[in-house]
Amino acid sequence: MKCFAIFQSLCCILLILLFSVLSGSTGLAADQSGEKEAVDKPVPAKTKITDKDRQPSLAWGNELYQHYCIPCHGINGDGHGFNAPHLLVKPANHTDSVFMSKRSDQKLFDTINLGGVEVAKSTLMPPWGAALDNDNKIKSLILKLRALCQCQATKNW
Ligand code: HEC
Repeated sequence: MKCFAIFQSLCCILLILLFSVLSGSTGLAADQSGEKEAVDKPVPAKTKITDKDRQPSLAWGNELYQHYCIPCHGINGDGHGFNAPHLLVKPANHTDSVFMSKRSDQKLFDTINLGGVEVAKSTLMPPWGAALDNDNKIKSLILKLRALCQCQATKNW
């Protein structure tokens, strides 16, 4: 009888141990699956900043001016680019504040976008709208032009 009681209590202890191990392992399994879920969660694709998201700035205008305008208008914007001697019409001097203040920002926009011909000037001033393909690039170039002439438009036409 005594033997049976010992056997019974041993079984009890074993059952308790087994139960605790099992519940422990399922807890662990739950943790692991939680971790796994976190790892597998789709990471949102890194939002790529394109030119379309960029706001107009003088820094951007500087870059664009160096790239597109200096061959004719010169590195200092004074109209003496390396290509200038080969042109029948002298490229405008963007540092001339009297000349540049007579052009509104809208007029400059149209000139850059559609070329000299748009403002009854020479076709030797090319249209840049298609190459730039972004209004904020043109607006940045206008900031650059205003920085070069250190002037604002006196007229709004
Ligand atoms: C292939 C040479 C060439 C390049 C490159 C060029 N231009 Fe010109 N640009 C000219 C010429 C030539 C004129 C003068 C046109 C005239 O007086 O009839 C001119 C004139 C201008 C004028 C004055 C127009 C007016 O109202 O009288 C502006 C503003 C101008 N360019 C901006 C730019 C900008 C900004 C860039 C760069 C995106 C650029 N140009 C690139 C040749 C060029």
